Amino acid sequence: MDAITLLHERSSMGKLMAPAPSPEQMEAIYHAALRAPDHKELRPWRFVEFQGEGLERLGELFAEAEFHADPHAEDGTLDAARKKPLRAPMIIAVIAKVTPDLPKVPKMEQVISAGCAAHGILLAAHALGLGAMWRSGKYAFDPTVRKGLRLEEDDEIVAFIYIGALGGRHRQVPVHKISDFVERWD
Ligand SMILES: Cc1cc2nc3c(=O)[nH]c(=O)nc-3n(C[C@H](O)[C@H](O)[C@H](O)COP(=O)(O)O)c2cc1C
Repeated sequence: MDAITLLHERSSMGKLMAPAPSPEQMEAIYHAALRAPDHKELRPWRFVEFQGEGLERLGELFAEAEFHADPHAEDGTLDAARKKPLRAPMIIAVIAKVTPDLPKVPKMEQVISAGCAAHGILLAAHALGLGAMWRSGKYAFDPTVRKGLRLEEDDEIVAFIYIGALGGRHRQVPVHKISDFVERWD
């Protein structure tokens, strides 16, 4: 697949199956992530990879988050939280590791950079014939989850990328009208 086709046709895949990407595929994926644009070369990111029992531990963390948010939460709610990460054979948490108070690289730029790294992961996964989906959801902003993943005060969870073998067909990507989004100053 040539690069422009990849950029035009990448799409998300929510239905994912085992196996998880191989170590070789993950190496290619991380190299793609690490080519994200990065003002002052801060490398403002860190990745936490979950598979196997790691996915169950992440599910426990989500359930703990539910419990802390509401100690009266029903068992069904806690169970649903526990099962969320089991929708893929692997999850990569993309964390913006933010250096605060840099005059030339404000927090927003560092978070955007980490977002670009997440996009790099999606693009590389697609190029390798894998399925992937960027999810955030309330757990990305939850204090219990932030603590469990060892975020510093200014850090942000920008993505939980669910990744694995394709469990379905990619949808036809929508074709947008460029003029709806572009203004030209000639
Ligand atoms: C920051 C961010 C967070 C997202 N969080 C979720 C989410 O929690 N759940 C979800 O279904 N889609 C989420 N999405 C959207 C999907 O990843 C996906 O982009 C969307 O379904 C459109 O599909 P496409 O990527 O094939 O165009 C998120 C996207 C971004 C950029």
